[in-house]
Amino acid sequence: MNLIVAITGATGVVLGTRLLEILGDLDDVKSYLILSEWGARLIESEVGASIAEVSKMADFMYDNDDLEAPVSSGSFSIDGMVIIPCTMHTMASIALGFSNDLISRAASVTLKEGRKLVLVVRETPLSPIHLRNMMTLSQAGAVILPPVLTFYHNPQGIDDLVDHIVGRVFEQFQIDHDLYSRWGSKEGGRQAGE
Ligand SMILES: Cc1cc2nc3c(=O)[nH]c(=O)nc-3n(C[C@H](O)[C@H](O)[C@H](O)COP(=O)(O)O)c2cc1C
Repeated sequence: MNLIVAITGATGVVLGTRLLEILGDLDDVKSYLILSEWGARLIESEVGASIAEVSKMADFMYDNDDLEAPVSSGSFSIDGMVIIPCTMHTMASIALGFSNDLISRAASVTLKEGRKLVLVVRETPLSPIHLRNMMTLSQAGAVILPPVLTFYHNPQGIDDLVDHIVGRVFEQFQIDHDLYSRWGSKEGGRQAGE
């Protein structure tokens, strides 16, 4: 599988770096990384990692202003794209069809080619403009997957909450994982017919 991974400048960039870290261990998934300028800045301030370190986790990496990159074209063989986290700025740009940087261009191409686009949109609270853009993109076929807190899997800390979101993204692409205990996966309950 060939997956475009974009990280934009919303808080929670650890979601993107964790996803890349796990993808790096999977032989059958190739990652194509694009960082927005603010995504890169937040990686340095929130994760404390250098861009050189993060780029090593990906199979390929492109500059966000490199509109000649392979992932800019629908003819390049890509299975899907995730933007994790996705800012309101990038979401608005995709919803309007701007395509003025590689992230929004690749997202636009992903949609027009009928491939899966997952947006881990992060903002709170949400204005009507944000909600309208989410609706536009959902109707265009994107999956809106906000990184909301979840407790049914009994998280022991932030790492478990991060892994839960990364796991939910992987499920969108049918990537196997054991990042959290799925609901109903534990022993218990009655067998049908009991
Ligand atoms: C520390 C910090 C946290 C931010 N968090 C968010 C956020 O959670 N969601 C959001 O939409 N924008 C957030 N922003 C604002 C974006 O970084 C800003 O809108 C930027 O233009 C986004 O550009 P990009 O989409 O190209 O990354 C944050 C900015 C800073 C400095």
